[in-house]
Formats: sequence, structure tokens, C-alpha cells
Amino acid sequence: MPEHLLAASRDPSEARYEETLRPRRLGEYIGQEKVTENLGVFIAAALSRGEPLDHVLLFGPPGLGKTTLAHIIAAEMGVNIQVTSGPVLERAGDLAAILTNVEERGVLFIDEIHRLAPAVAEILYPALEDFVLDLVVGSGPAARTMRLALPRFTLVGATTRAGLLPPPLRDRFGIVHRLDFYEPDALQKIVERSAALLGVELGEGASAEIARRSRGTPRIANRLLRRVRDFAHARGRATLDMETATFGLERLEVDRFGLDELDRRLLLTLIEQYGGGPVGIRALAATLGEDLGTLEDIYEPYLLQSGFLQRTPRGRVATERARRHLGFPALGAQGQLFRGEP
Ligand code: ADE
Repeated sequence: MPEHLLAASRDPSEARYEETLRPRRLGEYIGQEKVTENLGVFIAAALSRGEPLDHVLLFGPPGLGKTTLAHIIAAEMGVNIQVTSGPVLERAGDLAAILTNVEERGVLFIDEIHRLAPAVAEILYPALEDFVLDLVVGSGPAARTMRLALPRFTLVGATTRAGLLPPPLRDRFGIVHRLDFYEPDALQKIVERSAALLGVELGEGASAEIARRSRGTPRIANRLLRRVRDFAHARGRATLDMETATFGLERLEVDRFGLDELDRRLLLTLIEQYGGGPVGIRALAATLGEDLGTLEDIYEPYLLQSGFLQRTPRGRVATERARRHLGFPALGAQGQLFRGEP
């Protein structure tokens, strides 16, 4: 059984592929038009003024291109990028060391910025606002602060949970963009672009089929493309045709809505053990034996957006669509069974 094949979280073994397939410039980027058009305008303006780009916050579910966009911003600005993440920066000194090394107008990318330790966030505020670092030198009564000027840089912060950012941090981003799940057309173009880069020949309809089952997420589309390519090889076919793609996707247990085993188990548990809900996400996670964060950050967003799950003040509820998809009889408005319905 493929474990969490459709989890949009990053798999370290995929780094090499992600690197190969990642678009390098705004012009190559497919989808998220509102975000790329706006960024294009802001970058051109910053360049023409010879200033750093305003700090950028990118938020949204994993696998949609936040890291890719951070690299593109640096490339378009013609500067270097330093990459780090919230959990890696344990002490204020860790961030201070990086900040003093950023180049003028350079990009500092902090992934999972909602996981910054409060002491680290503290030194980030003056750095973002005034490009200064307040260092405490010495300890006890002899302690004093020293102010150090920093290069004028651009912070690009990425988070799956914008709601968890402390408001003072959130307020310091001049440019805030939410990345949404990709439209099927955009995802299909991404699959075709990736196939060309990987030297995979696609038959009619294969890219659309892969795109349809990739839950709006390029990282998943690229992963499924690589896996079904293996089925074409195993069958000795030079072209990845629609039939092989469908066969491979069925074997990988990705259904026609792009749901995997855990998605279906979640909905099934909700319907069978909790009468369809409402049930708290913690109880659901415990029953499934899954990590709460994985459910909330990785699984729920797509189930919510695709109409299989609803979030109510009293907990999660399985929708009619979920019941139908899993072969349960439909419920009426008051929750009674409609007899005779399939
Ligand atoms: N590969 C992954 N995401 C992409 C995107 N948005 N555009 C083009 N190629 C991609």
C-alpha cells in the first residue's frame, strides 16, 4: 500500500525531481495568475526604483509552489536567496547569523514561518521594519544592547497556517498572497511541461487523467506522473497512454477524485463511527491513529475545498457528496434516510 501517496508534504527523496521540474522564472510559471501577475508588477517597480522588494508572505496548502515562488522572486530580482525554516531557527543567534549574511536587496526565505520561536520572531521585527539587529551583549547588570545595521533585504515567508502567525509579524509583510489549489487546465499544462522535461511521451488524455487525480496540487501531479511512467516502462510501452495512466492510478489506489486511502478512511470513519458528524478533528485524528497536524494541514484542505467535508462550529461533517462517493444512501435535510435512493 503506498503510504500517503497523495500527501502534499515534501518527501526528501523527491528533492532532485522537484529541483529539475521547478520553473525558474515568472514567465515559466503555470497557474496562480493573480499571484504571478501582481508579483511581476511589484518586482518590476522595485527594480526600477533600485529598492528591495517589500516583504512577501505566501500562504496556502503544501505543494502549491510557495518555495518555487521564493526562488523565482530572487531570480527576477537578480539576487541571491538564503533558505531556512521556522523550526530550524532555534535561537535568536541562529537568525542573527543569517541576517548578517544576507546581501543588499537579497531574499531570505523562511519556510514554515508560523513555527518561529517567539525569541527568534522578536529579533525579526526590527530587522523587517528598520533593517537593524538589536543584539544583547553580556549578561546580568552589565548587559546592554547593541544596534547593528543590516542590508536592506526581502523576507519571503511561507506558511500553511497564516492564522497561526503572531499579528505583529503578519503586519510586517507588505505583500500577502494566498495560493489556491490549481485549476485542472493549469495542472494539465504542468504535467505536460514536466513530462517534456523528463522525456516522457504522453498519449492523448493521459495528462488530463493525471491532473484530475492530483487534488489541485503540482507536487502530487509530478509525483503521480513519475509513478505511472513506471507502469508504462513495466509494460514495455514507449508512450504513457491514457489506458496505462488509468491502470497505474488505479493500482496506486488514487480514485477518480484524487482521494487516497487515508481520505477515504477519514470519510468512512466519520460516517460509520460518528454518524457523519459533527465530530472534533482531535477525536477523528485519534480514531484514525493519524497525526492531527497531518490531517489539518495536508488532508483537510482538499476535502473541504472539493466538497467532501464541511467544517462547522461543532466539528467536521461528511457531506452528501462524500456519502454518495463512498456508496452510502443519501440523507435528507434533517438527516433522515431517503429510502429508495441508491
Ligand atoms: N512545476 C511545479 N509547479 C509548477 C508551476 N506552477 N508551473 C510550472 N511548472 C511547475
